[in-house]
Amino acid sequence: MKLYSIILLLFTFLIFLGCKSDPEIIFDSTVTEEYRPIYHFTPESGWMNDPNGLIYFEGEYHLFYQHYPEATVWGPMHWGHAVSKDLASWESLPIALYPDSLGYIFSGSAVFDADNSSGLGTSETPPMVAIFTHHNAEDANTSSDTFQNQSIAFSLDKGRTWEKYSGNPVLKNPGIRDFRDPKVSQITNSDGSNSWIMTLAVLDHINFYSSPDLINWSLLSEFGKTIGAHGGVWECPDLLPFKTPSGEDKWVLLVSINPGGPQNGSATQYFIGDFVNGQFTPDDAIIRWIDYGPDNYAGVTWSNLPAEQNRTLFMGWMSNWLYANEVPTKAWRSAMTVPRELNLFDVDGTLLLKSAPAKELEKLRAEEFNISDKKSGLPSEAVEITAEISTDSFSMTLSNELGESLIISKENGLVSIDRRNSGKSGFQRDFAAIHSAPMSWEAKDLRIYLDAASIELFVNDGELAITSIVFSNSAWKNIEVSENVTSLKIYNLKK
Ligand code: FRU
Repeated sequence: MKLYSIILLLFTFLIFLGCKSDPEIIFDSTVTEEYRPIYHFTPESGWMNDPNGLIYFEGEYHLFYQHYPEATVWGPMHWGHAVSKDLASWESLPIALYPDSLGYIFSGSAVFDADNSSGLGTSETPPMVAIFTHHNAEDANTSSDTFQNQSIAFSLDKGRTWEKYSGNPVLKNPGIRDFRDPKVSQITNSDGSNSWIMTLAVLDHINFYSSPDLINWSLLSEFGKTIGAHGGVWECPDLLPFKTPSGEDKWVLLVSINPGGPQNGSATQYFIGDFVNGQFTPDDAIIRWIDYGPDNYAGVTWSNLPAEQNRTLFMGWMSNWLYANEVPTKAWRSAMTVPRELNLFDVDGTLLLKSAPAKELEKLRAEEFNISDKKSGLPSEAVEITAEISTDSFSMTLSNELGESLIISKENGLVSIDRRNSGKSGFQRDFAAIHSAPMSWEAKDLRIYLDAASIELFVNDGELAITSIVFSNSAWKNIEVSENVTSLKIYNLKK
């Protein structure tokens, strides 16, 4: 009798365990304006493209960006401005740079000139210096080839107000129509002195220049005419030092290209190699992409991060020139990706770059749901999803009550995001597509950032990234995963 009741008790307990149902997730919209992201940066109104002048200074991460405040299509470019103290929320500030008689303000970078090498500040108040392309739109419509030139501006008040240098431009065009997007960094020479290095996109290659003072520039070398992807013009480069997993020094050169990306239109390729005596030499001729999705373009990294952060922090523009001017948002167009940390990793002897969401984004987690069922609800438009994968293939479907869906999967060595049935797509014929990336090594875990109009997928802590914008006609409210997706967690994200 005693044994019988124990068995009964055990049995009831097991049934109870087996039936333990997941927390009920009630969908509660947090979006205030159709397609307005909760935690991705967007301008309050008007047009935005590339991130520019990313610089950390006295506790603030600055984000300048290509901006046309008068319309939601590309036009005369300004530098818009926002700052963040935590990389998770952004505060918009007044426009930093306006077009002038030398032209529109195209993409570029910003540095802290700590030694006042430029003489534009004082030794007590060294300047923040922006280096950008002046694009003369009137000349661009003529047979002139010299309408893009490099100029500088400086700020002595933490980037709040800017003065353009009176001697602009500082680097004149030698007669090449595409001559733009200067990214400047400082390197220490073998004799201990410092030099400014400018990495510049020149039609189908990169030019490297050097300067002692950010004003006088001399050409060091050229790279890339016969290597890498060349389906379009080269733009928005960045040159970055890294340590390999085995502790070797390597340089990574980011080069955005448009068109000619792996999913058509815009994308960012990168090269891994050495940068010695002002010359970049790649290790091999493999074409590598920082993100296999259609919507991560013109991304560059933050300068002046405190040494103790010991990381490389990147952000891209979450759109594609194929349809950026047509996407169905109203008051503004385009968002930035989440900030990402870049690192080198090794797959069977080949070095690749991984990009994982910045740690700070974990601060956005408001509620956590552990899901043991293979189907669940979603709590809002802004969620982070993490999961483990027990075999090297999986599928995950997000859907809404209108029958629209977004499918994330790995099958036969290809990781894909299928947005063919994800909502609005009629604004451009290539938008409704499935975007796949080769991943010859095992997929072990997933991290997904969903927001009002985007998905960012990171496999194995960013060893593979796919970024895609989506315009569903109703929010994603359901998630369904294949059997081999385990440890599924959903975090509701708050601003
Ligand atoms: C890249 C780009 C840059 C240029 C800017 C103009 O998206 O074409 O090459 O500086 O946009 O807005």
